[in-house]
Amino acid sequence: MDAAALKKEVGRAAAVQVESGMRLGIGTGSTAEAFVRALAVRIGEGLRIVGVPTSERTAALCRELGVPLSTLEEVPELDLTIDGADEMDAQLRLVKGGGGALLREKIVAAASARMLVIADASKKVETLGAFPLPIEVNGFGIVSSLIAIEKAGSLLGLTGSLALRKIGESPFVTDGGHLIVDASFGRIPDPEALSAALHAIPGVVEHGLFLGLANAALLAGPNGIEHVEPR
Ligand code: A5P
Repeated sequence: MDAAALKKEVGRAAAVQVESGMRLGIGTGSTAEAFVRALAVRIGEGLRIVGVPTSERTAALCRELGVPLSTLEEVPELDLTIDGADEMDAQLRLVKGGGGALLREKIVAAASARMLVIADASKKVETLGAFPLPIEVNGFGIVSSLIAIEKAGSLLGLTGSLALRKIGESPFVTDGGHLIVDASFGRIPDPEALSAALHAIPGVVEHGLFLGLANAALLAGPNGIEHVEPR
């Protein structure tokens, strides 16, 4: 089965978990998009939900497919968020932000009673870090922030290149108007320590380590959908 088919399958499996009346956080990325498409089918069949999107991109897709939307201002507490991930370990610690939506994704997940991760099985890793860690930074003082991120990493024994994310020649700008630094630290043995060190840097708005947020995951593989709980 190819990657697109796996995403479609896990998107459908996630849509089945949604119950009428739910206040739903809706993730960003290609797997989340497959979920939105399956959710729209259920809404067409009578499911009633209100969704809070984690990006402008997801909001546009929801509008196109008739998924009812609100905002966190109007619905500040959610029942469930369903979102993809770039990496996930056995404790359901995640790396997210490959699509650049990590700040809104984290705010929405934190406002939710539960977070369900949907991915294909290749996203499950022993140790986080093979996928470069997205770090959202303010544009002001970007060079100082890059130096501070490098120092924070090296104090934890993490070295590797930092790259400002670009689209063509221009910097990638997030929905919040910030920039993204992709940190190729390699293996991150202590994600909690790195999270704390990054949060201590004033120019860092947020980072893509999602720790203690995910409650369960649905992973699509060649043998079907695996339901994973944190170890
Ligand atoms: C978006 O910013 C990300 O956090 C996505 O959830 C993550 O990159 C997974 O995306 P795919 O489902 O496209 O792999």
